[in-house]
Amino acid sequence: MSRRLAEPRLVVATHNQGKLRELRSLLGDHPVELVSAGELGLPEPAETETSFAGNARIKAHAAARASGLPALADDSGIACRGLDGAPGVWSADWAGPGKDFAVAMARVVRELEARFGGWDAADRQAAFVSCLCLAWPDGHDELVQAKVTGALVASPRGANGFGYDPIFVPDGESRTFGEMAPAEKNALSHRTRAFRLLKERCF
Ligand code: IMP
Repeated sequence: MSRRLAEPRLVVATHNQGKLRELRSLLGDHPVELVSAGELGLPEPAETETSFAGNARIKAHAAARASGLPALADDSGIACRGLDGAPGVWSADWAGPGKDFAVAMARVVRELEARFGGWDAADRQAAFVSCLCLAWPDGHDELVQAKVTGALVASPRGANGFGYDPIFVPDGESRTFGEMAPAEKNALSHRTRAFRLLKERCF
């Protein structure tokens, strides 16, 4: 049976400032005090699973165990159809140790061009996926997953958002997530969609 969040404090189990900002805004109207894993000085666990759900579970359970509080983790990434779903769960890794997403976006474009013999012929379909795990210190958890589909552009556009936002145009739009105001991205995003599912079940 699913469990509702009754505790007054919740750890947001991320060290990614972009995700933290978006999760804080999604949780904004819920009367719960938020504290981030970074603020608590919690270590970042190794993401050793090969699925979004597996890695979301690792992060949420590690933070719940270490803090004694319920913890919410997001594992997310961009899955490119022309690259058989890559970078997927390795989306953060493609940015390298310097966490440079210009490098990661350039690699996506380069690999698509190499595979299809140029950008014009490339399959540009992609989806952002977000899996959210809410875990409690006693080991219970709730998992939800959602996506937003769209198309890739070869040249990054816009300085908003984070990660791969500047090369992703959601279906039905002409601007990249990087060109949208935070509220516009939040209205469409994979994370918002996943959070909506979690909210129905747990908040
Ligand atoms: P992880 O969930 O910590 O493994 O990292 C997921 C990575 O996917 C992030 O570092 C971003 O590069 C990428 N990502 C996830 N969600 C978004 C998003 O909303 N916009 C842009 N990039 C994202």
